[in-house]
Amino acid sequence: MKTIRIAIDGPAGAGKSTIAKLAAEKLNYTYVDTGAMYRAITYKSIKNGLDLSSEQEIVKLLEETSIELQPSENGQQVYLDGENVSEAIRTQDVTANVSQVAAHALVREDLVKRQMVLANTGGVIMDGRDIGTHVIPDAELKIFMSASADERARRRFVDNEKRGIHIEFEELKADIIRRDKFDSEREASPLVQAEDALYLDTTELSIEQVVDEIYMLAKAKESEQ
Ligand code: CDP
Ligand code: CDP
Repeated sequence: MKTIRIAIDGPAGAGKSTIAKLAAEKLNYTYVDTGAMYRAITYKSIKNGLDLSSEQEIVKLLEETSIELQPSENGQQVYLDGENVSEAIRTQDVTANVSQVAAHALVREDLVKRQMVLANTGGVIMDGRDIGTHVIPDAELKIFMSASADERARRRFVDNEKRGIHIEFEELKADIIRRDKFDSEREASPLVQAEDALYLDTTELSIEQVVDEIYMLAKAKESEQ
């Protein structure tokens, strides 16, 4: 039986990375979090004091930047030029600025090339915003995952509280709505559902239910290969 490539796209907080990571474990596939790559270059650009509206400056920096994703017991670890930045790329500062950086067409071109290489390594689950439309347009299974904005903000709120970070629910909800709008309206590969993607609303579903659903769909596709 052949392995397949699974593309998961959708707005912030839909559950993409949680589900993709668990489904990858169950299927013995590689999980690739493409959002972490956009976050890593945003983090480095902020650290280097770049003007985030300058596409040229950011692309130049990106060309000399290494970003590696490595699985570990504590989830996927992100290495930026050899340094573990897995926590640093999740701060509010990076979250508030990442969509601006990700909107630059040349930044996307560079990262999409790297993601295409990662997608060619066999059984893979990749999550992001443009995986089914641009990174793996011929993926064997495409899912567009969503949930209500209230539920997505609630999930982020719970996540933060567990990490000892307190950000008001309304602020998180506003950030999610603003980022979704920015991601959906940008010119360069915006967040849209691929025509051949399955829409999965996870508002009322548990993590386990969604993982099981994707596992079943993947197994059915594997047996068709
Ligand atoms: O986890 P969360 O949904 O907050 O975001 P993420 O997946 O870490 O992605 C952060 C941001 O990176 C998104 O809001 C997009 O602006 C951008 N992104 C993108 O443009 N294309 C991707 N394939 C993945 C992320
Ligand atoms: O990657 P994305 O931004 O789409 O979402 P995530 O970071 O995977 O999920 C955000 C939070 O929602 C995590 O804490 C998950 O545990 C939680 N979640 C949930 O409660 N129910 C689901 N069906 C999916 C995710």
